Amino acid sequence: MSKPAKQHPKPSSNDSTPQPASRPPGISDTATLRAKARKDIEDGAITDSYTADREAVIKLLNDALATEYVCVLRYYRHYFMAKGMLADAVKGEFLEHAQQEQAHAGKLAERIVQLGGEPDLNPATLTQRSHAEYKEGKDLRDMVRENLIAERIAIDSYREMINFVGDKDTTTKRILEEILAQEEEHADEFADLLEGWIGE
Ligand SMILES: [Fe+2]
Ligand SMILES: [Fe+2]
Repeated sequence: MSKPAKQHPKPSSNDSTPQPASRPPGISDTATLRAKARKDIEDGAITDSYTADREAVIKLLNDALATEYVCVLRYYRHYFMAKGMLADAVKGEFLEHAQQEQAHAGKLAERIVQLGGEPDLNPATLTQRSHAEYKEGKDLRDMVRENLIAERIAIDSYREMINFVGDKDTTTKRILEEILAQEEEHADEFADLLEGWIGE
């Protein structure tokens, strides 16, 4: 049996009684919003409307965090060890990337804490948990090549994470999308460098 359609009285300017506002589907009234916010206050930024698998998201973010730190360390190693004709130009890229990967790590760690998790920065297990590898590279060109490979790994894993999170956690998704865009820039820079490489 279908419900009879409700008749909404037309608001008139001389009627002082507040009319219940009609809300689009999925939009709560103020009283419901207030009551929900008071419940489970210890969950901080995480409310009932968070529908992603929080534990799984924290785990993925921690894997990405480990990857970023391994990348920071690899870029610093390459920055200090870069030698040869093109070293001056390439060193600047390595240093900039090291700093940007560090910033990515910061964003991930912050989000992990917001979700009620703990950032895993245990150095003893960093390389096992990282997607990308710590490759020292035998010369400058090899370093660039290894970094391009690491960036391509990061790109694929961030894209997979974005697909997993989807629209269930739009804040995490936005953070991951911002990081992904920068990893694509990094990869693009190295691809350009390798393409125009002269000599060994
Ligand atoms: Fe990164
Ligand atoms: Fe990167």
